[in-house]
Amino acid sequence: MKIIKTVSQMRKLSLKWIRQGKSVGLISTMGALHKGHRSLIKQSREENDISVLSIFVNPVQFGQGEDYKKYPRCLQKDKRLAEKEGVEIIFAPSVEEMYPQGYLTFVNVENLSSVLCGNSRAGHFKGVCTVVNKLFNIIKPTRAYFGQKDYQQLKIIERMTKDLNLNVAVIMMPIVREENGLAISSRNSYLSGEERRQAPVLFNALKKAEEMIRVKKETDSAYIINQMEHKVRSQSKAKIDYIKICEPESLKEIEKISGEVLVLLAVWIGKTRLIDNFLIKGDE
Ligand code: PAJ
Repeated sequence: MKIIKTVSQMRKLSLKWIRQGKSVGLISTMGALHKGHRSLIKQSREENDISVLSIFVNPVQFGQGEDYKKYPRCLQKDKRLAEKEGVEIIFAPSVEEMYPQGYLTFVNVENLSSVLCGNSRAGHFKGVCTVVNKLFNIIKPTRAYFGQKDYQQLKIIERMTKDLNLNVAVIMMPIVREENGLAISSRNSYLSGEERRQAPVLFNALKKAEEMIRVKKETDSAYIINQMEHKVRSQSKAKIDYIKICEPESLKEIEKISGEVLVLLAVWIGKTRLIDNFLIKGDE
């Protein structure tokens, strides 16, 4: 396994792979690797000749007062995990390498970026799109793997890829969870013991919605959201940012459930903001 730190070295390699006709899978991460990242790596290894793992804590996707400084960084541990998983290349550039002096260009996907998480985290998706676009340009992957865990991010990246004619297949991977249902996230490491006990409430609220839609055939979004809010509020450390039911492609809110819907929520557990979602099929 090789660790590449500069754009020019990475470009040389990707051009070589293109000449050799090799397929390249990209798993883009901010490091602090866990089982969720590992599932993306495994899929990429199965589907491509070469898998590139990018590790970059991207400053431009963090807002003022967010956790950029304290975001977990553990490159040595990440290297060991990546090597064990058979990753060929880690691309781990510095901030100066990605955003040199004089940097001015940003990519924004309108509408989809200003709702849901974009409403609470202004500029976040502009930062994500900018860095993902740069990674696509530098690494030129055949396929890029993203988790359903960050569903809105994935839809925005799909839109950007289509709109900007980027030649890469965006692939969605299922959410990897702890046994208690908590979606695995690098940010779970911020949780205290008590917060960890309460954090599965996001999953439990989604299960509640699923039962209401699938079993009880409930179609009133407002009522389902109300019941979910009730569940989340039963936990002392939980504070709701949003709970919404949306159409899975447009991310527009839905009042009456029919067909497949996206139920998603963002909840503060103490000082840590967690997100989760289910795609649920109601009656057509
Ligand atoms: P990060 O949070 O490190 O996540 C990297 C990828 O792993 C994302 O596609 C995310 O959806 C996926 N992932 C995280 N937790 C997961 C889980 N429990 N199950 C399945 N997949 C999971 O998302 C980012 O980094 C950044 O925004 C990035 C795309 C790298 C741009 O900076």
